[in-house]
Amino acid sequence: MHCSSYNHDKNLGSSSVQDNVDFSLLSEVIQCYQGKKGSLITVLQKAQEIYGYLPLSVLKYIAKELKVKPAVVYGVATFYTQFRLTPVGKYLILLCQGTACHVNGADTIKTALYEELKIKEGQTTEDGLFTLDTAACLGCCSLAPVMMINGQAYGPLTPEKAINIIRGIYAAEKESTGEGEN
Ligand code: FES
Repeated sequence: MHCSSYNHDKNLGSSSVQDNVDFSLLSEVIQCYQGKKGSLITVLQKAQEIYGYLPLSVLKYIAKELKVKPAVVYGVATFYTQFRLTPVGKYLILLCQGTACHVNGADTIKTALYEELKIKEGQTTEDGLFTLDTAACLGCCSLAPVMMINGQAYGPLTPEKAINIIRGIYAAEKESTGEGEN
């Protein structure tokens, strides 16, 4: 059930970074790449791994430290779809759009998730719990169709199974926050 090609666990705890960003981890990364040509995309990828997304303050910091014009950094961060400029939810759902998943009904899973979560691809639920995104092959084709939630693969899915997984997480969240108790 589990494969490790994507693991976003470590990102999510810091998904709410705002202006009080701790740059220490990023500073270590930048030191490795300073002065190396063509390192901007790698640094942006590492920054996203650290913070879960790319806050404006992080983009400015990268521009300053790499001595690249801020406009260039913003340009790259907004051009590539792999980069997020807004925080992700506590649970990042990656729905596979690879061939094996596609032919096994990934679209029906997508529709079910849209309806259940009331969000579309790239969006986060109002309560900040779920972000829904798609990905190319997640490397678990034998489980197609697959979705990954915070690095854990679930499959083979049906629309009903996908909805039940989401409802299970909601229920566990309610329990852990004491909601629903009288
Ligand atoms: S195509 Fe979906 S996991 Fe490979």
